[in-house]
Amino acid sequence: MSFLYGGDYNPEQWMNSPEILEKDIELMKKAGCNVMSIGIFGWSVMEPREGEYDFSFYEKVIDRLYENGIKTILATPSGARPAWMSMKYPEILRTDENGVRHKHGVRHNHCFTSPIYREKVREINEGLALHFKDNPAILAWHVSNEYGLDCRCELCAEAFRVFLKKRYNNDLDKLNFEWWNSFWSHTYTDWSQIEPPLSIGETSSSALTINWKRFATHQTIDFYKNEIEPLKRIAPDIPVTTNFHGDLTNLDYFKFKDYIDFACWDAYPDWESPKGNAETAAGVSLIYDVCRSIKHKPFLLMESTPSNVNWKQYNKLKRPEMNILSSLQAIADGSDSVQYFQWRKSRGSAEKFHGAVVDHCGHENTRVFKEAAELGERLKNISAVQGSDVKAEAAIIYDWENYWAIECANGFQKDDKKYKDECLKHYKYFWRNGINTDVIDSEQDFSGYKIIAAPMLYMIKPGVSEKLFEFVKNGGILVSGFMSGYVNEDDLCFLGGFPGGKLKELFGIWNEEIDTLYPEDRNSVGFNGNEYSAFDYCEIIHPDTAETLARYNDDFYAKESAVTVNTYGKGRAYYIAFRGDDDFVKDFYDSISVGVSSAAEYVSFPDGVSVRTRENETEVFLFIQNWNKTDVEINVKSALKNIETYESVSGRVGLKKYEILILKKAKN
Ligand code: GLA
Ligand code: ZN
Repeated sequence: MSFLYGGDYNPEQWMNSPEILEKDIELMKKAGCNVMSIGIFGWSVMEPREGEYDFSFYEKVIDRLYENGIKTILATPSGARPAWMSMKYPEILRTDENGVRHKHGVRHNHCFTSPIYREKVREINEGLALHFKDNPAILAWHVSNEYGLDCRCELCAEAFRVFLKKRYNNDLDKLNFEWWNSFWSHTYTDWSQIEPPLSIGETSSSALTINWKRFATHQTIDFYKNEIEPLKRIAPDIPVTTNFHGDLTNLDYFKFKDYIDFACWDAYPDWESPKGNAETAAGVSLIYDVCRSIKHKPFLLMESTPSNVNWKQYNKLKRPEMNILSSLQAIADGSDSVQYFQWRKSRGSAEKFHGAVVDHCGHENTRVFKEAAELGERLKNISAVQGSDVKAEAAIIYDWENYWAIECANGFQKDDKKYKDECLKHYKYFWRNGINTDVIDSEQDFSGYKIIAAPMLYMIKPGVSEKLFEFVKNGGILVSGFMSGYVNEDDLCFLGGFPGGKLKELFGIWNEEIDTLYPEDRNSVGFNGNEYSAFDYCEIIHPDTAETLARYNDDFYAKESAVTVNTYGKGRAYYIAFRGDDDFVKDFYDSISVGVSSAAEYVSFPDGVSVRTRENETEVFLFIQNWNKTDVEINVKSALKNIETYESVSGRVGLKKYEILILKKAKN
């Protein structure tokens, strides 16, 4: 099988220009495309008037593409509905966090509970499924588009109450207790008194906010299940997915795992920004690793721009070679596709200046098109990689519920506790050292890993302590630290000392206090013969069974422990009590012998180069990526084969600026 290569295609914008639709096919073939995502915003064409379905336009386009070797990922159109529907059924319009019901407009702004909207969606999806179920062009269903906005109307408030009744076994006293509602006289005496968080209403209850976010994920999945019901019933062999996106803050995508056949992502990183491409690339890989770890199998890159976007503050062009490098990065991290938003620039409206493979000039003689065509060629040449796995012995825990709980906690640094940054800091150590890493939530199985980093694991959900004990007992290395083990799943603080959930025993420490520093403040920590700054957070911890590896140098807690290790069973549990910088994190992991396989066994490489591996039963593929703006040299330790040129590669090899080299090694 080849990799999928294509993008979002909006032929409805060119319905009256058949010559452009024909030209598209010619250009798609020139670019090496084999798939297009179609119909995402097509509802007005598919159902121009209520109950009048017409799929003939899309069918013609899809068939014509298929005759030319291009398949279709067919979307359900619920991401944007026609105006007639909003006018006739105002209940389907979204109510926002200010309690204001929106007017018709934009997209992605529906109520996710409204029975009428669900019915309309089910009906059109049924129509699509009946019409296209036997069409060999259809590869998958692209359900809706970038779910994410919640709705706080009365229908949603009532659904929230039903969700809570189930979660708390119909026991309002239990909910009052778990949410600590005796505080500020918040005790509810009837379920009907519970409202969604609103800017003009309840904003102070962290348990309400966290449970609302849980509900928003739950209700989105419920809405999605309503979408896929006719698809699965009528066309059971066509896989379903929905395109995930963003910065890991909104919906808890791990919860979708049982309802999607594969995961996919829309990626729009800030390439060429002042923070540097290597730093950006590490953050992107972390997201791809989340996406892959949802189902632990290859995913699809569903959207990316071949050049610039149009919705950021500054919309810089991708530099030459960056599109190839950043697209193949997704492949290295486990994607089986490269897909763009968008195939052709729209002529008018909101996205006319967003990057596309085909620009307004309408021909292939552009830098962007030529690079896209070159990538099309390269994807064909590396098709042996398609379907292979990314195997990881290391994992980072990134947990959405934990993130929500940290962010809505009053205290610490009020507005941004930098949970994601802390996860990225640990992640970068693995990424820079060629160590494949899964990024999982705390509900997943830990047993297959050798090392798990769980920074700022503030919320300990039921069963997680036990899993961590088991993991370490069996020889795992666990790395955690400040702000971990503070609250349970409802945001109630653990009594008896932090880290709670019995983690005091696993880490062999007691955490007495946390000091939040002003941004300019620094403490320092002596570790491994070096001095490192401690900033933002310093906890004052007391070892019990743990051994101290580093101590603070300053302030009233000078000489107190700052890094500890506790041996438990066959493994070790490390606790880092302060926020340190990248250099500290590097020295820390270097010094504890993490003992996991790394691409560094095959190749040594300088800073700003990342190496990922995918493997199948017989071969390991190495993706060596140069994010530097300069040429560099790597050292290939034993002869490997370049999978594109078939040349044998060994010893010192030059890598140009933004070059990616893909090598393979036969397994013994
Ligand atoms: C999102 C959407 C697309 C498009 C792109 C632009 O990912 O899904 O429809 O708007 O953003 O970057
Ligand atoms: Zn609603």
